[in-house]
Amino acid sequence: MAKTLQTKRLVLRPLAAVDSTWLTDYWRLPELYRMAASIPPDVDEDFARQRIVDANEGEQAITSIARMIELDEQRVGLISLQRSTSREAYNLGYSVHPDHWGQGIATEAGTALLNWTDGFVTPRFYISGYFADNPTSGKVLTKLGFLPCWREDVFSRGRNEYVDHIFMSRMAE
Ligand SMILES: CC(C)(COP(=O)(O)OP(=O)(O)OC[C@H]1O[C@@H](n2cnc3c(N)ncnc32)[C@H](O)[C@@H]1OP(=O)(O)O)[C@@H](O)C(=O)NCCC(=O)NCCS
Repeated sequence: MAKTLQTKRLVLRPLAAVDSTWLTDYWRLPELYRMAASIPPDVDEDFARQRIVDANEGEQAITSIARMIELDEQRVGLISLQRSTSREAYNLGYSVHPDHWGQGIATEAGTALLNWTDGFVTPRFYISGYFADNPTSGKVLTKLGFLPCWREDVFSRGRNEYVDHIFMSRMAE
């Protein structure tokens, strides 16, 4: 059974089929899909359903650890570690609904997730990154202990173009 994490304010729980409608509406927000490389604009509910299936199958295959972030029993965001194969480092991704930005939610969720996974991940490091026009995300990664590594354009499905991107990495402590 996939683990649920709790922090002072947040619950980080595995994704469930009932999340598909909320996720669809969430990923349709331009504030979200423009900053996440892998979300196209105008996703439909099938897209969200497939992402939920992939997340839960990936947890079994040790290639995905995805958690819904809840505050006061309401969905407020998403955080995940993803990789293509169990030999690669996990890539950290996260997002918070714009109604809840600036409350420290991404930092609190990331700290809790990494504190847990630091205990067992191999290889012993993570990668992540952010588009250069999204310094807020760079700030979150820095607060989580990530350091900049290299800079290279990455294709944004949301914008349908390559965008300046800063890659970051963090060792498991
Ligand atoms: C990036 C995102 C997850 C941040 O979530 P959040 O819960 O608001 O983040 P936090 O409150 O934990 O931290 C944000 C930090 O950025 C800082 N910040 C805000 N605007 C900033 C800016 N323009 N430049 C630099 N730092 C900024 C805040 O002050 C805060 O730092 P502080 O705690 O030291 O004051 C959220 O904005 C989001 O979901 N954006 C869209 C999706 C996205 O960008 N995902 C990440 C893809 S790489």
